[in-house]
Amino acid sequence: MSGFNTRAIHAGQDPDPATGAVIPPLHLTTTYKQDGVGGLRGGYEYSRSANPTRDTLQTALAALEQGTRGFAFASGLAAEDTLLRTVCRPGDRIVLGGDAYGGTYRLISRVLEPWGVTHQPVDLNDADAVRAAVAPETTRVIWCETPSNPLLNVSDIAALAEVAHASGTLLVVDNTFASPYLQQPLTLGADVVVHSTTKYLGGHSDVVGGALVVSDAELGERLAYHQNAMGAVAGPFDSWLVLRSLKTLGVRVDRHSANAGRIAEWLLEHPAVGDVLYPGLPQHRNHDIAAKQMSGFGGMVSFRLRGTDRAAAEEAALRVCEKTTLFTLAESLGGVESLIEHPHRMTHASAAGSPLEVPADLVRLSVGIEDVEDLLADLEQALSS
Ligand SMILES: Cc1ncc(COP(=O)(O)O)c(C=O)c1O
Repeated sequence: MSGFNTRAIHAGQDPDPATGAVIPPLHLTTTYKQDGVGGLRGGYEYSRSANPTRDTLQTALAALEQGTRGFAFASGLAAEDTLLRTVCRPGDRIVLGGDAYGGTYRLISRVLEPWGVTHQPVDLNDADAVRAAVAPETTRVIWCETPSNPLLNVSDIAALAEVAHASGTLLVVDNTFASPYLQQPLTLGADVVVHSTTKYLGGHSDVVGGALVVSDAELGERLAYHQNAMGAVAGPFDSWLVLRSLKTLGVRVDRHSANAGRIAEWLLEHPAVGDVLYPGLPQHRNHDIAAKQMSGFGGMVSFRLRGTDRAAAEEAALRVCEKTTLFTLAESLGGVESLIEHPHRMTHASAAGSPLEVPADLVRLSVGIEDVEDLLADLEQALSS
C-alpha cells in the first residue's frame, strides 16, 4: 500500500476517463439516464443511493483509514445516528466515555433513549470499569472518542477492542480530533471509525459533513442499506469540498500539531493558567498511550484558568475567550484558522447537569496554521488583560 499522502491525493481519484480531468468531476445530478428499464450505467440510478462524487470521497476515506468501505453523510451526527440505528435495537445499551462530545451524548441520551436504547458513561481508561459496564447480551457498542472533546483524554484503542470483542460488542472510535493522518483505529482493532468531516478532513470551515469507515464486509452492507434507507447522505458539492481538502490533510495536520505543541508548552508556564490538557505534553495523564497509538498529537489544546474560587475562574475563562482577536470566538474546530471557545457554555452546553458536564473554567483552542508567534502574542494579550 502506498503512503498516506499519496493515498490522500490519489486513492479513488484517477483522472476522469471521459475527459482526462485531473480533479474528480463534481456530479451535480439527482438522477441518471437508463439505457432501457434497469439499464444503469455504472450502477447509478438516483443520487441518494449513489453519486460518483460521493463514491470517490468514500473510496478515499476508506483508503485513508485502511478500511474496506467508507460512507459519507450530511454531518457527523447524521453518520452517528445512521450507525447507531443500524446496529442497536430497543433494549440494547451503549457504553460510552464519560467525556464524549456533547452532541453525541445528546443523540444517545435524548434521541435514542426514548426509543429504548440505554447508555452508561464510564471512564474508558479504567479497563475493569469498562468490562463491568459491558453486559454481553445487551451492550451493542462501546463508544470511544480519542482524543476526546474537549478534555483531550486519550483511550487505549487496542485494549478497548479486546474488551469489546470478548463480549461480541462493537468498538466505535470517533477519530475526529486525530484525523486518519495521526491515528488509524481500524488497524488497532476498532470496528467502526466515525468522523465529523466538518473538522480536520474538511479543514477550511466551509463544509459540514460526516463519515463512517469499516473493515467488515457484512457490517458494510448493512450500513450501505441504512445510508440509503435513512437518506442523510453527503451532497455532491460537500463531498467534492472534502475530497479537495483531503489532499492537504497531512501538511495541514503537521502544522496544526507543531503550533499546538508550542502553545501548550507556553501555556504551562503562564501564571494565569492552571491545567494544560494536551496529549503531547509528557505530564499529560495519557501521554504514553497517545505516543503509542498516534503519530503526532494534533491541533487541539484545552486549558483551565486560575481563580480565587470557581466563579472567578469561570469569569477569567469567559474573559479570555472574548479578548483574543486572532483566535476567533466560535464553535467548531479543525480549520486552518485558529478558534477559541468556552465548552461549558457553548459546544458542551447540552451536557450541563449530566455526568458529561465539563468544567466552567475550561477554554478550548483549535490551533490553526497561522504563524505561531502571532498566535502566542494574541494569547498573551488576552491572558494578561
Ligand atoms: C468529536 C466530534 N464528533 C462528532 C461531532 C459532530 O459532528 P457534526 O457537527 O459534523 O455533526 C463533533 C462536532 O463538533 C465532534 O467534535
